[in-house]
Order: sequence, then structure tokens, then C-alpha cells
Amino acid sequence: MLNVQSITKSYGKKQILDGISFSIQEGEIVGLVGENGAGKSTLLQILATLAKPTKGKIFLNDQAYDEHKKNIRKQIGFVPQDIAIWEEFTVEENMAFFEKLSWVNKSKQQLKQLCIDMSLDKWKEPVHTLSGGMKRKLNLAISLIHDPKIILLDEPTVGIDLKSKKEIANHLKTLATEQNKIIIYISHDMDEIISLCNRILCIGDDPFYQNILESSGKHIVTF
Ligand SMILES: Nc1ncnc2c1ncn2[C@@H]1O[C@H](COP(=O)(O)OP(=O)(O)OP(=O)(O)O)[C@@H](O)[C@H]1O
Ligand SMILES: [Mg+2]
Repeated sequence: MLNVQSITKSYGKKQILDGISFSIQEGEIVGLVGENGAGKSTLLQILATLAKPTKGKIFLNDQAYDEHKKNIRKQIGFVPQDIAIWEEFTVEENMAFFEKLSWVNKSKQQLKQLCIDMSLDKWKEPVHTLSGGMKRKLNLAISLIHDPKIILLDEPTVGIDLKSKKEIANHLKTLATEQNKIIIYISHDMDEIISLCNRILCIGDDPFYQNILESSGKHIVTF
């Protein structure tokens, strides 16, 4: 279980997150929504151990983030809002590079399968020749190389075609239900969030979001 207790984040005098608490069980896919600048990416970066909260504590299965950072990091797969891959390398070389950086050994076939799971059928092409959506698919595949327990996705499907989006969503659902992953998913696409997620966290109480979310019938938590 991921347990977030009273997280506060400020940049200088500007408070971004104000005492956020929630917990997520294994096997759950949780949507994270809110308007531009609400603090979604900031919260995800904190959960990915890439930023520190100003106040508050986070536990993964009773291990505190600040005391077990190295071990917790190994269990996290993160897709940042901005694509982070090697443009000059091929898809295969990118997968091989990130596999070397990780602490797992995966065969070429296993790495290729991760790309196929994300609806990416390019393998020998240099990344700079791929479309924006294909690069996002590669970023998603890279985040899964080390079999992370928690998968944190910051707008991973921006620019990805509808058919691939559905295939990726189905694969994420399988990862949650069959492998008990914890998945947190940021998106501005409410249809995507509602069809994919078991529960939705909303930063900010803007009535616009509240109305859409309430009509979905999903369990909503607002901060
Ligand atoms: N390194 C930083 N230094 C100062 N302010 C920051 C920094 N990073 C983010 N912010 C501010 O924190 C607020 C939240 O930003 P964040 O990127 O978390 O929002 P978001 O909800 O992900 O928005 P979007 O939907 O546009 O991606 C914004 O006002 C942003 O300007
Ligand atoms: Mg963001």
C-alpha cells in the first residue's frame, strides 16, 4: 500500500500542495486530475522520489520514503510529462541502454515485448524519425523495464492515437489486476480517466471538474 500523509509543497512563498493525504491499495489504478498548475506533476515527482515534500510523510508498505529512498526508487516506474529518451539511438538501443541502467536482466525478446505491449512496433528505427506519439509509447515501455511495483504516469498518452490509447489502457488494467501494480495516471482527458481508473483524485474544487467527475459515478477525492 502507498500511504501519503499530509503532504505540503511550497516553492518559496508559493504553496502548491496543502496537506494532501490518501492511500492506494495494490491493484488500483488512480486518476489524478486538476487544472493547469494545480500541482499534479509536482505531486507525482514527490511520489517518484524526484522532489521532496516541504512537510508530510510517504510510506510504501510501511517503509518511509525518507528512510528507504534507494529501495523505494527500485520499485518505481515513472513517465515524466516531458519525453526523456535518446533521439539518436534506435528504439532497440534505447531499450538496451535503459535495461543496462536498471538492476534487472531482460532478454532482447522481453524488451521487444514491452514495446509491443505499448503498441510500438518500431524496433530498428532511430528515435528522431518517430512521431511524437511513438516516442511517448517508447517512454512508457522504458518505464516498465525493471518491473516496478508503482507506475507513475504524467500525461503519458498525449498525442497517441485512439486505438493505441485503448490498447495501452487495456495493458495497464492487466498490470493492475494480474500483477497487483499501483498505477497513478495524470490526464486532462476525462473520458480516458473515467474509463481507466478505479478512483479519481482531484486537486482543486473547481465546479467544472467536480460536475464532470460526479456524473461518472466513480469514487472521487478532492484536495
Ligand atoms: N521548480 C519549480 N519552481 C517554482 N515553481 C514551480 C516549480 N515547478 C512547478 N512550479 C509551480 O508549481 C505549480 C504546479 O505546477 P505543476 O507542474 O505541478 O502543475 P500541473 O498540475 O502538473 O499542471 P499541468 O496540467 O499544466 O501539467 C505551478 O504554479 C508551477 O508554476
Ligand atoms: Mg503537469
